[in-house]
Amino acid sequence: MKARIAVLPGDGIGPEVVGHTTRLLSVIADKHGHDFTFVEGMIGGIAIDETGDPLPEETIKICEEADAILLGAVGGPKWSDPTATVQPERGLLGLRQHFGLFANLRPVKTYPALLEHAPLRAELLRDVDILFVRELVSGIYFGDRREQGSGEESHDTMRYTRAEVEQVANVAFRAAQGRRKKLCSVDKANVLASMRLWRRTVVDVSEDYADVELEHLLVDAATMHLLTRPGSFDVIVAGNMFGDILSDEASVLAGSLGMLPSASLRSDQFGLYEPVHGSAPDIAGQGKANPIGMFLSAALLLRYSLQLEAEASSIEAAIDAVLADGLRTADIVGQGGEAVSTEAFAEAVIAKL
Ligand code: IPM
Ligand code: MG
Repeated sequence: MKARIAVLPGDGIGPEVVGHTTRLLSVIADKHGHDFTFVEGMIGGIAIDETGDPLPEETIKICEEADAILLGAVGGPKWSDPTATVQPERGLLGLRQHFGLFANLRPVKTYPALLEHAPLRAELLRDVDILFVRELVSGIYFGDRREQGSGEESHDTMRYTRAEVEQVANVAFRAAQGRRKKLCSVDKANVLASMRLWRRTVVDVSEDYADVELEHLLVDAATMHLLTRPGSFDVIVAGNMFGDILSDEASVLAGSLGMLPSASLRSDQFGLYEPVHGSAPDIAGQGKANPIGMFLSAALLLRYSLQLEAEASSIEAAIDAVLADGLRTADIVGQGGEAVSTEAFAEAVIAKL
């Protein structure tokens, strides 16, 4: 198959993990007779430095001409001055919004090989296999905002429409139907009007999915349940901000934030694929980054945008095998272990293919 992939490395460890990932995808292409073209664009802090804009027109054009987008990470201390008028993060948010990527899928699973070093007891973690479905183009991230540079007051607005909740709820229910048929909806319906709309709408949508067992949790309780009974969750659907927070929390279950991939989708096959982790400026350029989150994001790209299931699974299996062999990056090394570099880890995964 022929595919055109927009590649946006971004900032911090973004370029490192993306570089190994395009290599991985090239090896997959060679092995399976595909023809992947990679077209690189700028986003985030580097784009601000070069063009003044975190999401240059040229980058949007590259993405529009592509079948899917592969993105590293954006942001860093260089651009985090609170008085700055433009943040690197705006590039990423603008991209999600421009393409209407409303459904952000963040799968979280545990690895037998990592259980003994986990911060939670191994018996709690053994059966963890959760799919977060985070609403990505609305809610408080995109509601009315007023920022007074030097003033005494600013505000953000959490806002949802019924149609917005319906479309992400439908994605979540359908995902649950293909899995263990359980959906947990997270909200703050006891306090926020927008979240009462969220809950009412999810209940209404549930009528079309009689085979899926629906549970509601308030977000504060959800943070606790995620740690006390993580194995009981199947699919979790949440608004933009709650989904952001809960998915970082859930990364602890997997062993490290460096391990989680994500797919940001709309109703067709187009999608943006990026690790859940950020640009990790503290370890950038030192060969310490964990490439797993980015590799698994590439697997999701193959699965969802290109329908290459066997190729996607081969990446996941290669990662399982390398972890089972005992190879570790710095973030998952555990006590007394020895970490290999990003490059050595990436090469080991590629060799397993
Ligand atoms: C994420 C990140 C982003 C978000 C930032 C970088 C804007 O934390 O993808 O989870 O908040 O959505
Ligand atoms: Mg986040």
